[in-house]
Amino acid sequence: MSGEGSTNEELKKLTKNDKYSILLPTYNERDNLPIIIWLIVKYMEKSQCAYEVIVIDDGSPDGTLEVAKELQKIYGEDKILLRPREKKLGLGTAYIHGIKHASGNFIVIMDADLSHHPKFIPKMIELQRYLDLDIVSGTRYIGDGGVYGWDFRRKLISRGANFITQLLLRPGASDLTGSFRLYKKDVLEKLIKSCVSKGYVFQMEMIIRARQFNYQIGEVPISFVDRVYGESKLGGSEIFQFVKSMLYLFATT
Ligand code: GDD
Ligand code: MN
Repeated sequence: MSGEGSTNEELKKLTKNDKYSILLPTYNERDNLPIIIWLIVKYMEKSQCAYEVIVIDDGSPDGTLEVAKELQKIYGEDKILLRPREKKLGLGTAYIHGIKHASGNFIVIMDADLSHHPKFIPKMIELQRYLDLDIVSGTRYIGDGGVYGWDFRRKLISRGANFITQLLLRPGASDLTGSFRLYKKDVLEKLIKSCVSKGYVFQMEMIIRARQFNYQIGEVPISFVDRVYGESKLGGSEIFQFVKSMLYLFATT
């Protein structure tokens, strides 16, 4: 149903059963997890929306899962769900794994390393409700959005990937490789079924498929702050995968 033209009261009725499942894939995020979860809880409680946080840890050797268990004791088993996997199986499949266990009708996908600030989630929710959007994507490339702490190489990779993809595929969203997004759950499930790529490039394919399906996409400017603790898992092989997948998408969509 469309949110357009409805009053605040109507909107409240329409959204009163909404629940947000926030997926947090982790690999060696022991130092970041307590802070990110504390912030998520803070902003979700403030927004008065029902929510759950699903931590998908891939057998992190630094003991992330043990930290997650402690956090579960603090915030409760209904708020923090642990859905670990044995070993590092990649970001794309971590999302798929998480969604299977999600009880919300909306899914929020974000990084656990504090690059994505939870304060943007209520903004995404607000925009989604107002326009009844299928997807709200955080973007570093419009309005107040931006990137902080990246070196030239990393900025070049991100800008380059976005630029080439914009040029070849015209996806109708400004930040293709970003992974801070809100989806209607059924929309996300349908997109996942249609996606062929795994790993980092997954984000980009999802937005391109979304346009194919004519889903309504909105954007919220976000600031992306480079991680302070731990290191990025994006390496040369991921970049190679990205280029390969992009060419594949170019040829097939
Ligand atoms: N479970 C699981 N398994 N989690 C993973 C894995 C994995 O194999 N690999 C990475 N993660 C988790 C990290 O712990 C973190 O929470 C999140 O996924 C992102 O990983 P980073 O290693 O911090 O990624 P990044 O900072 O280099 O890349 C970010 O920015 C890119 C460009 O905008 C991510 O948001 C990418 O998705 C994005 O394309
Ligand atoms: Mn990161």
